[in-house]
Amino acid sequence: PPACTAGDVVVQEDPGAHWQTVVVDTERRLPAEFAPGDLVNISEAGFPFTDGLAVRDVLTDDLNAMREAAAANGTPIAILAAFRSFEQQVALQDQRVEEMGPDAAASRVAGPGHSEHQLGTTIDVTSEGLDDVDQAWGATPTGQWVASNAHKYGFLLSYPSGSSETTCYDYEPWHLRYVGRELAQRVVASGLTLRHYLYVHHPPIGYTPTTADSTTTTDEVVTEG
Ligand code: DAL
Ligand code: ZN
Repeated sequence: PPACTAGDVVVQEDPGAHWQTVVVDTERRLPAEFAPGDLVNISEAGFPFTDGLAVRDVLTDDLNAMREAAAANGTPIAILAAFRSFEQQVALQDQRVEEMGPDAAASRVAGPGHSEHQLGTTIDVTSEGLDDVDQAWGATPTGQWVASNAHKYGFLLSYPSGSSETTCYDYEPWHLRYVGRELAQRVVASGLTLRHYLYVHHPPIGYTPTTADSTTTTDEVVTEG
């Protein structure tokens, strides 16, 4: 995929229709006014009704199935964050910059329009009973269950550990983007991060790979002169 540059390229895909494959990263962003039309409360997926936690209706069946499977395993999950509007992302970024400074914030929170949470298909999870989450949570039984099983229900960790170079963010064992079961299975089988997989197999409209991309080998650069 291309390097993790900060940019302001508005995606040309319709993010409501192409929610499975649209690339949203540090360079490419959603239109400010975009919000999906089918947001429903997470209670539609069997979680306790929580004001302000909404997801797209397209994923509620699979989210309910994942919730039930996690509970059946003895590692029940809860949801800390779901859809975030452009304006909510503005506020979150401001808050993180205030807390940790601009450099640390840049590797942990997306800018407005650049967050997968605005797609309405992305959730932050934790263990039932907790009201926070951190990187260490990834090593807990629930974090491990999520890492190994979420894809079976169509959810992928966008920012797995040791992959910041291609994901553009620090490890987030809690951040799950829904892409559907079939695509999730293919991404896991590829061994690539979601961002990397999308640039290779579903490149954004208007994107032209360059020799600076990390998918291009040194040999290819030499051959192309
Ligand atoms: N924490 C992720 C990168 C977000 O803000 O969407
Ligand atoms: Zn998140």
